[in-house]
Order: sequence, then structure tokens, then C-alpha cells
Amino acid sequence: MNNNQPVILASGSAIRAAILKHHEIAFSVIKPGADESVIKTQASASGMGLEETAMQLAEAKCMAVAKNQKGIVIGADQILEFRGEAYDKPVDMAEARARLSEMQGETHSLINATVAARDGEIVWRNLERPRLTIRSMTGAEIDAYFEEVGDGVLSSVGAYQVETPAGAGLFKRISGDWFTVQGIAIYPLLAELRRQGVFGEQWKNPKPTLAGVIGFPISHSLSPLIHNEWARRARIEGEYRAIEVASDYDAFATAMDELQAQGFAGANVTIPHKENALRYAYRASDAAKTIGAANMLTFGDNAYADNSDSAGFKDALWANAPGANIETAMVLGAGGAARGVVAALRDIGCKEIRITNRTREKAEALGKEFGLEVMDWSARLPGLDACDLLVNTTSLGMTGQPALEIDLADLRSNAIVYDIVYAPLETPLLRNARERGAATINGLEMLMHQARPGFAAWFGNRPYPVSPRVDDDLRELLVGTLKKRGAA
Ligand code: ATR
Repeated sequence: MNNNQPVILASGSAIRAAILKHHEIAFSVIKPGADESVIKTQASASGMGLEETAMQLAEAKCMAVAKNQKGIVIGADQILEFRGEAYDKPVDMAEARARLSEMQGETHSLINATVAARDGEIVWRNLERPRLTIRSMTGAEIDAYFEEVGDGVLSSVGAYQVETPAGAGLFKRISGDWFTVQGIAIYPLLAELRRQGVFGEQWKNPKPTLAGVIGFPISHSLSPLIHNEWARRARIEGEYRAIEVASDYDAFATAMDELQAQGFAGANVTIPHKENALRYAYRASDAAKTIGAANMLTFGDNAYADNSDSAGFKDALWANAPGANIETAMVLGAGGAARGVVAALRDIGCKEIRITNRTREKAEALGKEFGLEVMDWSARLPGLDACDLLVNTTSLGMTGQPALEIDLADLRSNAIVYDIVYAPLETPLLRNARERGAATINGLEMLMHQARPGFAAWFGNRPYPVSPRVDDDLRELLVGTLKKRGAA
């Protein structure tokens, strides 16, 4: 993408190269010849702190290459700190096993230094310190982990590869940027590369991005928190606002024209405007057409409508129940949200989808369109015993709404119960399911995941992609907000 100046990564790390590539940076790799052990020995002899040591190592690796090279050279170093001690990469599997056994159930830090030199001089330094908590594990679980991943873990200081599903499964909590955890603080680096003119002069001072969410009412929306947090992390200037617009189409269309005139990149659209958004757009994605409603409008010459509810439902399902085999599912409700869920279930290859709704005709109409089996709406759901997944798409159970009275006696012990309601976070349905030992997924998961395509489209409108991630920090921010409102 960038051609203005050569960019060189002074690191032999495959994952660092993969992260730069993922962000569409054109670069070459030169492995630095710096002798890390000399610096480490000197640092520990002089009582130097670990942060300073990591910075010195990053600088040394960077300069070993930069002294002979024009352009931008990137160097990085990562030190694992556990109980005040620094840890190096394990030398063999026995040490890796001992390392993980010691760290299980505890929190450690990854001290990450990333630096950049320009024409032989360091021009930028960045230090981050993500914190990671490994869940408590038995010796047998640790053995099984190493059996699965093999000796690739020897290339990581923590004896884990967080980027693999098995590695990610080791953690109870990861606090800090995901890419930094893997070895390079990509977002601060991208901001610096932009300042250095690597992506072209026009990107040196990009215009702040404007986006928002349109609804009525809208003050309760958590979307501004999600997008503004992602923008802050990615060092992108801009703002995502909550905008209230009266429910009729004319008011909506006028408001959208105004946002476009103000230079908004796009907007999420929620109740009661999802059909209005589809009508307003010139073009629409297949997902929006299938669902018959849009929750995203991307402006530009021709407004484009999309629907990320289905993808959000699916992504949250896979994130919370990786590898689940969902052959039979039961959907409660037959409104707009149910359409998105049914489309997602079709998409993941769910063979049998059962639907039930207070107003049976609506379930029948949806059933005909998507080939679903319509069940009676009753507290004891017929056919629940065969379901791998039960999804509530109605507003029942939401704060201020009547309870959803469902008897879960027939629920399979390995079934997943998914409620798209997020206030309260644990609806009576989810509590009941949890108490029966079922896996549960709450509506906040879907809310976070459905936000990702909009963020990538509007804030990521840069010469490189940004990767908005759902993680523990984001979840905690939202749960904290719901708690303050008394909704969690
Ligand atoms: P959404 O776009 O969120 O799906 P919707 O299209 O208004 O909103 O659909 C709301 C769903 O919740 C419907 O399935 C509705 O059932 P009806 O089709 O019978 O109206 C369901 N729902 C809302 N209030 C309900 C209640 N008190 N009892 C049972 N179902 C209810």
C-alpha cells in the first residue's frame, strides 16, 4: 500500500511480519545482528528495570539494521515479567511445561517496546504493558495442551501462542491490545508511520472520522462507547455519536442527507429505522435484502445498506462456543431480529430450525420463507429436547418487559442458550439455563460483534485496515456502564 519510503522490519519474528502484512504495510525484513545477550547481561548487572531493558533491546535491534539503511526501520522487543522476574523463551519442552505450570492461575505482564528509526536515527519509541491471566489448569490439561500445539511454543516467551485457538483457550483474561500481546504495538506504530508520511502526504493529517447510531430513543445505546473505544485504541481521530431521529421515513431521510452533508462516513441504524435505512439506500447487501432491514448505512456517492446482525450473531456464537456442532435449533420470536438469526443459522449449516412465536401467523410466514418447522408457543416448548441451541429473539425478559416463561426441563445438558437481550445481562432465561449447567451467551456478545463491520468500514477507511476486536477490556467497559445504570 505504501510506496513513499521503504519500511524495514528489523526482526526475524514471523508473527510480527504477519501483523504488518495484515495491516497492508509494504516492508522488507532484515534480521538484526545485535547481540541481545550482551545487553541483557549488562542490564541486569547495572540493575536496569525491565521496561528500560526492553526499550534498549528494541533500539539495539533497530539500530543494528538502521545504521546501514535509508527509510524507516522498525525494531521491537518483548519481555515477559512474572512476579518481578524477566523470562526468556523456553529452551525446550520441559522448560515450557514448567513455565506454564508455574504461571497457571496467575497474572503476568508482557513488556513490549516498539521503536522506529528514520535514516539511521531513532525517531519514535513506544512502550506497552499488556497483562494476561492464565486460567487454573491441572497437570493433565497442560500436558494435553503441549501435545496439541507442539514445539512451536518455544518461539514465545510465555510458552503459549495466543494467536492459536488452543493458546487463546489458556487465558482467563487478557487486558491490553491484542497485537501488542503478539509482539508489536501496531496501532501506535501505524499512527507514527502515518506521521512519517509512509502512506502518502494526504494521510499525515487525516480528517477526523464522523459516524454514529440513529434510533428513537437512542440515549441508552452502547454503540458510541464501543466505537469510540476502538478509535481511541487505534489512535484514529474521530467521533461516533448517538443521534435521535423521529420514527417516520421523511425525518429519517432528511437526517441522513444532513449527516452526509456534514461528512459522516456512515451510521448504524437501530429501532425503529432499520427498514427506513434499506429504503433510503441506493444499494444493499444480500444480507440486508434477505433480512429485509439494514443496521448499517455507508455514505459516499451512493448510500449503501448492509446488515451485520446476522454476522454479529454468528461471530458471537463462534467466539463463545468454538467448534459447537449445531444441527437443530429453536428460535423464539418472529420479528426482525429473528430473521437475522434464522439467516445466520442457515448460513452455519444448521439442518433443522424450529421457530415459535406468540402470533403464530408470523412464525408461519417466516417458516415458509426459510423452510422452518413451526412449533406451538407454550411454556413447555415441544421439541426442545432435540435442540443444540435455543435462541430468544423476543423482547421478553428485558428490563421493564414481561418475563419469558419457558420451562427448560427438556433442555439437553450440552445445549447452548443464547439471548439477544443485554439488559439485564443475565436474563431469567439465561440464569435458569446456567443453573441447569447449559452454556449461555448474552446479548452483549452479539452487540459487540455486530459493531465490527461498521467500525472497519468507517474508521478503517485508511490506507490500511483496522481490526476492531471484541475482548475482555471492551466487555468490562460495557458491563461497567450497564452496572452504573443498574441494568447488569
Ligand atoms: P425485533 O426487530 O426486535 O425482532 P419485532 O419485529 O417488533 O422486534 O419483534 C418482536 C418479537 O417479540 C415478536 O416475535 C413478538 O411476538 P409477536 O409477533 O407475537 O408480536 C415478540 N414479543 C414481544 N412482546 C411479546 C410478549 N409480551 N409475549 C410474547 N412475545 C412477544
